[in-house]
Amino acid sequence: MENTKRYIGVFDSGIGGLTVVKSIVETMPDENILYFGDTAHVPYGTRSREQITEYVLNDVRFLSRFDLKAIVIACNTADAIAKDKVKELYPMPVFGVVDPASRKAADSTKNGKIGVIATNATVNSRAYNKEIAKYNADAEVLSVACPLLVPLVENGRFRKDDIVINTVLHEYLAPLREAGVDTLVLGCTHYPLLYDVISSMMPDVNIISSSVAAAEALRNGLEELGIFGEGACGERKYYVSDNAEYFEKTALVFMGDNLGGSVSHVEID
Ligand code: DGL
Repeated sequence: MENTKRYIGVFDSGIGGLTVVKSIVETMPDENILYFGDTAHVPYGTRSREQITEYVLNDVRFLSRFDLKAIVIACNTADAIAKDKVKELYPMPVFGVVDPASRKAADSTKNGKIGVIATNATVNSRAYNKEIAKYNADAEVLSVACPLLVPLVENGRFRKDDIVINTVLHEYLAPLREAGVDTLVLGCTHYPLLYDVISSMMPDVNIISSSVAAAEALRNGLEELGIFGEGACGERKYYVSDNAEYFEKTALVFMGDNLGGSVSHVEID
């Protein structure tokens, strides 16, 4: 039984969840990862709660065909909107990105002012406000929706010398700078790629990647549950609901390395 291959099922609206996979691989390279990217329906961040929930439940239904030991919602938008529903329907450990990043932010702030940048749906859900309040009831949370960042990052506009990303970020970050936040949560899977640009604009601010925080919390969670390393042999497989070739090509930017496994197209609707 010990040696039966088991997977961590990781899903995202598309490609951004690969920043979470990258952090998982760095933290626990032997775990088997089964990734599903709903590339046919990306982005989730501009959609309604009902639509996001429907897509998320389809994603998990697909992953649940495999022998999973845990599910990771590697998408801030999906986690913010539908984590409770996933937990209610699937009796297995469910990990996310919002809770770990909130906890880290709450622990790290000195002046109690935390900024969050995320998609429209994540900001409107107030999920970060609620989670951060659980760990630090006095923290002031200022959230800014940044709808232009996902398409810009996917189009390669994330480098430090790129005038477009600099201009857009300058505007999005202005209210956070004015408010004097000392901690900033990158509350979207795409934003770790913007780390260099953002830290050059906010050099004294502690920047928290929800992708890195998620991998750390996953490792702790698996250890606590006694399933860390169980059925693990470092296998990785990727499934997408749209063009596999496009995913494979763009994936390298998000993973910073090769995917370490095959990509297949799958119909899940
Ligand atoms: N993965 C999403 C998130 O972290 C960003 C892309 C989307 O809007 O679907 O919020």
